Amino acid sequence: MVLQAIKYTRGQLEILDQLKLPHAEEYDHIYSSTDAWHAIKEMRTRGAPAIAIVAALALAVELVNMKLSPAAAEVKTFLLEKLDYLVTSRPTAVNLADAARKLTKTVEDAVSKEGANGESVREAYVLGAEQMLEDDVSDNQSIGAYGAEWIVKNTTAGQKGQVSMLTHCNTGSLATAGYGTALGVIRSLHSRGSLKHAFCSETRPYNQGSRLTAFELVHDQIPATLVTDSMAAALLQLRGPTENIAGIVVGADRVAANGDTANKIGTYSLAILAKYHGVKFLVAAPRTTIDLRTKSGADIVIEERPGREVTLIKGPRHDGVNLDLAVVETVSIAANGIGVWNPAFDVTPAALIDGIITEVGVVEKDANGGFNLEAIFKVVGSK
Ligand code: MRU
Repeated sequence: MVLQAIKYTRGQLEILDQLKLPHAEEYDHIYSSTDAWHAIKEMRTRGAPAIAIVAALALAVELVNMKLSPAAAEVKTFLLEKLDYLVTSRPTAVNLADAARKLTKTVEDAVSKEGANGESVREAYVLGAEQMLEDDVSDNQSIGAYGAEWIVKNTTAGQKGQVSMLTHCNTGSLATAGYGTALGVIRSLHSRGSLKHAFCSETRPYNQGSRLTAFELVHDQIPATLVTDSMAAALLQLRGPTENIAGIVVGADRVAANGDTANKIGTYSLAILAKYHGVKFLVAAPRTTIDLRTKSGADIVIEERPGREVTLIKGPRHDGVNLDLAVVETVSIAANGIGVWNPAFDVTPAALIDGIITEVGVVEKDANGGFNLEAIFKVVGSK
């Protein structure tokens, strides 16, 4: 089976329901922007790049299947309203806002062309959204290659042949259009023979690590071990030297202009651990995740999710011996009545980050100790 979170052909979109993984692989049809908004909010689809692509394609599907106005201006109004609405689904990952901004520009350009009509605006929008799907996979492959090369060059992988890496949350094929960002780097290390072992953290409270990343690692037959988030320090201390753990590689939901990075809750703790243990801490993200409009991490809105995601867990019935996939149960794992704080993301200060791996190369700190992220948007072929 090919791991595919998003299945798209013109006029038709399906998403793999990530709430049901790893126990069931079921696809949901997405017919409209409203369907996409709910799928994103409920985290049936998740991961910064995947959220953006599902939103963009859902609107393309809605547009292809609706009765279209012949007036370019009317189609423009419809599309811009829907894009604004889609952006409200989740606030922290910037890829969706970035996609909406680019598609707004595409629509405005199409409307201003001579002879523009409803059909020509529709075609421009659909092509723009489809291009995003295509670009994401190739960008991730480049991120994987640049990241693996950097790790081999800048850690003991070069001398010892192989290194181990720890990753957090899910940043693989399920969080993107394919291949993945941080998990793409691990995939790339593995395929070039430079990976000794991958460790993934459980990623409480939503368990993207144990449910999704572990699923991808098993699927790809990459040697890997799952640890709970609270085991990461002991992992680096006790198994770091024997396993040759060279670093931690994570994805991002938004990288501010100064390099401060919002990513899944727990990322900041891992960056502090990396610093203490003297291993590399790397962020892997396409440029669509880098937001030069946001000056620093202090300006990033952190989504807070319902307390029930902390107090309840859901899964198939297990009687201690057998798993019954037909019966899904929800159980409480906290004292009834306790208050809960559930921020979905945290911000890792740029000072703790050794490199930001993008599809055009790895950005390291400059002589002043800061990241110059503006420069990577000037690279030829910038989108
Ligand atoms: O809440 P989620 O599951 O959407 O959060 C996902 C993450 O934090 C990922 O690490 C990030 O989006 C990068 S995905 C390539």
